[in-house]
Amino acid sequence: MPISIRPLHPVFVGEVTGVDVSRPLEPQEVVAIEAGMDKYGVLVFPGQIITDDQQMAFTRNFGAIEDARGGNVTKPQDKRLVTGMNDVSNLGKDGKPLARDSRQRLFNIGNMLWHSDSSFRAIPAKYSLLSARVVNKKGGNTEFADMRAAYDALDDETRAEIADLVCEHSLMYSRGSLGFLDYSEEEKAMFKPVRQRLVRSHPVTGRKSLYLSSHAGAILGMPMPEARMLLRDLNEHATQPKFVYVHKWTLGDLVIWDNRQVMHRVRRYDDSQPRDMRRTTVAGDAPTVAQEAAE
Ligand SMILES: [Fe+2]
Repeated sequence: MPISIRPLHPVFVGEVTGVDVSRPLEPQEVVAIEAGMDKYGVLVFPGQIITDDQQMAFTRNFGAIEDARGGNVTKPQDKRLVTGMNDVSNLGKDGKPLARDSRQRLFNIGNMLWHSDSSFRAIPAKYSLLSARVVNKKGGNTEFADMRAAYDALDDETRAEIADLVCEHSLMYSRGSLGFLDYSEEEKAMFKPVRQRLVRSHPVTGRKSLYLSSHAGAILGMPMPEARMLLRDLNEHATQPKFVYVHKWTLGDLVIWDNRQVMHRVRRYDDSQPRDMRRTTVAGDAPTVAQEAAE
């Protein structure tokens, strides 16, 4: 059966059938999925029960797996999953839900803010692939917002105002907005802000999009309150229901999104119940803007 994609939302998101992601793909299947990603920004693959090795092998069809170092407060010895897998579950190494006051858990609550994965890296991520291994009975939906449609809907004056703006992104901005403010010196160095353009163009389609993320906490050359207010306004505009798709997870769903074109967030859920979601990330290939010269 050939790959087929059916739209799930008026402006983005497609559902893919006719492919088994646990097996090596034919080159034309990879081309069809990439083309689907360029068009839809988010693709949902239902019924894909896969292992970590299969998920990583499938991910490599679209580029190198991103080096996850510097993206979390979890210490290497506390990691539940192998290198190459991002753990976005609520589970500790013992397989049980993390304690309420666990630093790891509190840091991960930041995933409930709208963001683009790895926008805090100088070379931000291309795709994220999220596999549902244990799902919540209630809550825990992941929402996606189309940053191309949001850009298209801006008025000309706003587009001109933001065309060349450059933001600073850091995990300390997103977590800081939730009151998570205590970092070791090592973490402060690791989470040092990077620069990202506020408007970016897709390398294949050329389509422009807003590059927003809760990690964005400053705009170069703009007073802080003015910058934060502009970012809040743009986020409010970009996450209107008409630009948002809500994904309710079913066991075995694999969802891929293009971080260059969409934002996402997870919604609250009962944290006493296990939620096992495993992410792989395809590295990006270029910064969106020149970084500060090394000091
Ligand atoms: Fe994320």
